[in-house]
Amino acid sequence: MNQRLNGLRQKMTEAGIDALLISQQKDRRYLSGFSSTAGYLIISQDDAILALDSRYVEWARQDASPTSEISIINTKGEIHNWLPDIISGMGISKLGFDDTGITYSTYSKMNIALDSVEKAVELVATGDMVTGLRTIKDAQELESMQKAAAVADASFESMNQQIKIGMSEKELAWLLERILRENGSGSVPFGIIVASGPNSAFPHHSNSDRVIAPGDPIIIDFGARIDGYGSDTTRTLCLGEPGDKYKEIYDIVLKSQIAAIDKIESGMTGHQADGIARNVIADAGYGQYFLHALGHGTGLVVHEEPKLGEKSEDILQNGMVFTIEPGIYIPGWGGVRIEDMVVLEKGKTRLLTHVSK
Ligand code: CO
Repeated sequence: MNQRLNGLRQKMTEAGIDALLISQQKDRRYLSGFSSTAGYLIISQDDAILALDSRYVEWARQDASPTSEISIINTKGEIHNWLPDIISGMGISKLGFDDTGITYSTYSKMNIALDSVEKAVELVATGDMVTGLRTIKDAQELESMQKAAAVADASFESMNQQIKIGMSEKELAWLLERILRENGSGSVPFGIIVASGPNSAFPHHSNSDRVIAPGDPIIIDFGARIDGYGSDTTRTLCLGEPGDKYKEIYDIVLKSQIAAIDKIESGMTGHQADGIARNVIADAGYGQYFLHALGHGTGLVVHEEPKLGEKSEDILQNGMVFTIEPGIYIPGWGGVRIEDMVVLEKGKTRLLTHVSK
């Protein structure tokens, strides 16, 4: 945790702020080890203060990382009631805040708070400064993500033994979710997608009562969550005899995905990585049907940095965990997507998810 705090402090110095008010749950959890739905973390070069209301204080004393230097205060009332004391105590003049993570109402209360501080303090909108730090996973995070991927792998295999023609998309999604939970996953990181037949032409289909028929392409996008960290896998399968179209499309998507897994290297930009997979699909004549980016970082949040897409300048680096998920979606027919989660290590990708393709 202290290493994470120090990384942030360096970025704060570069941004020219003396302290940062952290308001988003994922960032609070990443820096303090404590996961409450409410509260703030205030970081300066010398202090790290977790500001929580009385529902959380005792819990945090037990749970916030024991190696961490974080102190806990019990906030009484809303932010303008307790923030002035903290600011005065820190003697700062520039307070950063994440303008992507607070409401206008909270912002107004912060302004009231600063008016009552004797020394003038400037509020500086910084965006989410923690997101960038979270892209490189440390050993502890990687372990949680490997566990989540393993639970997802095993759960999909047992679902595969039970899947039947005649089940609805909703039934199948629930079957897989139940197995994931029974295998130790926390609440699933995102709603499982089951898209069958023509519905599989929509990359983010919302599960329906449609009953699965022989020969349908069935896209299943799912994940497990361990210690807050989510996994993300997609498989496309077919019950009964697959048609020629299905075989053709499946092979192109698989070829595209394998090319990306093999050729992506650290130092590439997100758009170079995307291009590896996109070229395979375009060369096969289906470029216009690959409707989304190749992949995204994943961790405490299912979609986080880096982005692997046509316009992404993000630089892929060792320690990043992201998905590789090309797809082809043909209106009226259906679609195929194949997604795995990888970590970049020693310049190359290593698969974290292993379900058979
Ligand atoms: Co994904």
